[in-house]
Amino acid sequence: MASVTSLTASVHQRLADALSAALPEAGAADPLLRRSDRADFQANGILALAKKAKANPRELAAQVVERITHGELLADVEVSGPGFLNVTVTDKAITETLAARAADGDRLGVPLNPHAGTTVIDYAQPNVAKEMHVGHLRSAVIGDALRHMLDFTGEKTIGRHHIGDWGTQFGMLIQYLIENPGELAPADEVDGEQAMSNLNRIYKASRAVFDTDEDFKERARKRVVALQSGDKETLELWQRFVDESKVYFYSVFEKLDMEVRDDEIVGESAYNDMMPETARLLEESGVAVRSEGALVVFFDEIRGKDDQPVPLIVQKADGGFGYAASDLSAIRDRVLGLNASTLLYVVDVRQSLHFKMVFEAARRMGWLNDDVTAHNMGYGTVLGADGKPFKTREGETVRLQDLLDEAVQRAAEVVREKARDLTEEEIQERAFQVGIGAVKYADLSTSANRDYKFDLDQMVSLNGDTSVYLQYAYARIKSILRKAGDSARPAAHPELELAPAERALGLHLDAFGDTVAEAAAEYAPHKLAAYLYQLASLYTSFYDKCPVLKADTPAQVENRLFLCDITARTLHQGMALLGIRTPERL
Ligand code: ARG
Repeated sequence: MASVTSLTASVHQRLADALSAALPEAGAADPLLRRSDRADFQANGILALAKKAKANPRELAAQVVERITHGELLADVEVSGPGFLNVTVTDKAITETLAARAADGDRLGVPLNPHAGTTVIDYAQPNVAKEMHVGHLRSAVIGDALRHMLDFTGEKTIGRHHIGDWGTQFGMLIQYLIENPGELAPADEVDGEQAMSNLNRIYKASRAVFDTDEDFKERARKRVVALQSGDKETLELWQRFVDESKVYFYSVFEKLDMEVRDDEIVGESAYNDMMPETARLLEESGVAVRSEGALVVFFDEIRGKDDQPVPLIVQKADGGFGYAASDLSAIRDRVLGLNASTLLYVVDVRQSLHFKMVFEAARRMGWLNDDVTAHNMGYGTVLGADGKPFKTREGETVRLQDLLDEAVQRAAEVVREKARDLTEEEIQERAFQVGIGAVKYADLSTSANRDYKFDLDQMVSLNGDTSVYLQYAYARIKSILRKAGDSARPAAHPELELAPAERALGLHLDAFGDTVAEAAAEYAPHKLAAYLYQLASLYTSFYDKCPVLKADTPAQVENRLFLCDITARTLHQGMALLGIRTPERL
């Protein structure tokens, strides 16, 4: 594996060297380099430095230009405006850098982060005996993408699916099952659909008895106590609910084309044994205090109605532990047991107050500190095409399977329309990759904290910022490569001059690694999505302006095929990081 320094980084280095030679007192000053339309790059950093040194910016800029080593990298550096630098790199540098990337397999020359650590990422956390909804979809899709992206930068990631598998509702469910033993088919005899429909039926039936029959209610309450005290029969029945739910979860994750590992499904209940100790540590250190019998943590800055402080409840007055105790224990486990340097939570923004309090309590305990940090990627709400929270016409939450099935069906229509020589089986396979990709991309291409509209018409559209557009771009490139007879990888020809559209494409291709690094560091998959969309657009203008197979000379044909090849590989890798497939033919 050979990592490649990006052109941006190389140019940055040259400018920084010249800057510190021209203005030694500036130290390691940042030339503030960015891509520009007027040249390849523009550096804006000299203005502020000149101001600080009380120098004339244009003069300082001229001195910097004098000290820049051009070598084979730089074609031209000129002063513009009040003291900007416009930088143009050589065609040769572009092609050679891309050639080095092409020689580095799937990594495309992208270096690993030298400061990588261990991130425990909490995502895809549905609740036992409950249907998954669009909110769970977001957590799964965003979490999965972030995980691929972090892995690619060299971070070690550990998944934690903090499923809701504990709570008083299990008293009712288990008691009902004891009294109606035939109702839950064994988990290994049902598929996901049947599992969920069993659970739904039991949920509704037990709720109905619970709400009308006082004696049953009392038996259900006693059942909660039995569950909490670890009664064997009760626990076994609880486990059956968990197992049945997992059959359902797995079927949805499979539909989502997402890998979920059983050893990473570690739900709320997994921390039960730790909770008394968590409470004791919090109380002994004074971080938590007793208030009306409950054990709570107060925060000066967090206040609710009438300016009353809102406490985090670690233990209720009746001795029971809840959501907060489980999350605080999970932090101890992830930091001390799993040696995490970062805890990442992909959870609905509506839980952000909970996490704010949990993180602050953990900081006071020293479980979180400067070296171990926690972040909640609070994501926004999924809206219907009408801009209101996504519901069925009857006002119920939309079943996730139905939604995914519909996306695949709509994708099938798009694929069928375009398909020339595909069999029905091939159409279905591609419809799956296109439909699920569309759902994921729509989610990932908007910044996570914003709400977004679930609009299938828009999602499967061939025009605009959609995964289908990207998948078609990829498939088109692959078809050109096939036509060229791509048995061997086309070679680059650094001796050739590049057309403007080739340079624009080349410079963008070179920025892949920098983009992934930034998007991963900021937990911002939408930046990677935007990069890929622009890549496909730049490829389209390249293809419009520069004939590939009919180029003037055999060397130019090959160099353009080389650009096609590395574009395809970058698209493929980038989409894979988002969890989206790129079919070879569409
Ligand atoms: N199961 C919860 C829900 O559906 C999300 C869990 C989030 N993770 C956590 N560590 N609390 O709302």
